[in-house]
Amino acid sequence: MLEKPILRVLAGEDIWPPPLWLMRQAGRYLPEYRAIKDSSGGFIARCMNPDLATEITLQPIRRFGMDAAILFSDILILPWALGQDVAFKDGVGPILAPIRSAAGIDALSRARVADATAPVLETITRLTKALPAACTLIGFCGSPFTVACYMVEGGGSRDFAETRSMAYTDPALFARLMDVLTTATTDYLSAQIQAGAEAVMLFDTWAGMLSPLQFRQHVIAPTAAIVAALNARHPGVPVIGFPRLAGMYAGMYAERTGVDCVALDTGTDPARAAAAVPDSVAVQGNLDPIALIAGGSAMRAEISSILDALRGRPHIFNLGHGILPQTPPEHVADLVQCVRSR
Ligand code: CP3
Repeated sequence: MLEKPILRVLAGEDIWPPPLWLMRQAGRYLPEYRAIKDSSGGFIARCMNPDLATEITLQPIRRFGMDAAILFSDILILPWALGQDVAFKDGVGPILAPIRSAAGIDALSRARVADATAPVLETITRLTKALPAACTLIGFCGSPFTVACYMVEGGGSRDFAETRSMAYTDPALFARLMDVLTTATTDYLSAQIQAGAEAVMLFDTWAGMLSPLQFRQHVIAPTAAIVAALNARHPGVPVIGFPRLAGMYAGMYAERTGVDCVALDTGTDPARAAAAVPDSVAVQGNLDPIALIAGGSAMRAEISSILDALRGRPHIFNLGHGILPQTPPEHVADLVQCVRSR
């Protein structure tokens, strides 16, 4: 099993050149995804159809041969499975019926999740059979704080003021939601591992909006609880954490949460983060998705600077945030070639 380059790096080995995959590597920048999207109903329907979700997960692997495949799904599938109304509107993004009361939180049902997500687990099991031998299958969830942001706000937001206000003004109510999410996330990731996910990632897209005190309460504490529970249930299955916009805390985050890898966002200096993160903990990242759209010599200079900064320590090459829909697929091919030819 540890033949797979990504798993070797997650176990603390450094490999040169580093293995790579890209956040949001499946999706709208690929014509073969758009062809399926136009004929397959809504986004949730695609996520819940094992034929389509398996095919969409494999599309970037076939085209570019990344070292890992990430399950085609979304962080908002968990609130949907818990019973919240969730819809994805083209050109708008996710829309949720906001939850801001104890009654709303208590109406969420952890008992629903196993049934509702059964097709996702089926997709994972099919992928374990369909992927190339060296390709690692990554499962994922949003982290409790980031998922709570969408659940309370009812969608995306510039500053998630409703959510962050709730955390300050009604900490007991916010803790009630965070507790439901921490347990449900642990169980759902555990089910993904049982179905065949070889590593799991926690996306904490909005971690960097929090004050230092709130960051400890709503990012470090739940992440540490999830990692400890997963390590106990599935020893040796690595966890990647992505505390986006919080690269200044990379060292503290690695030490206190117990993750096996810290994913760095675009604005984080990889050399400084690497110096702060223990040598045995991998780092992942962190090419600017806009540099990938630009391509050419500007992109290659950015790639070189990241590779040079992280050479000699466990590193998985990736972006600093997800691929954008306007990305030319040829630039992704150039990126893969550029990293592999080092
Ligand atoms: O490589 C992959 O495609 C893996 C699957 C994946 C998706 N979303 C598919 C998706 C993953 C890992 C995510 C994570 C996710 N989703 C995050 C965390 C990472 C990040 O990007 O910050 C967040 C915050 C979300 C919530 C979300 N989902 C938003 C805000 C949107 C709308 C914006 C957009 O790009 O449309 C989505 C929809 C979504 N998730 C799409 C895809 C491919 C686009 C919908 C479609 O193609 O029909």
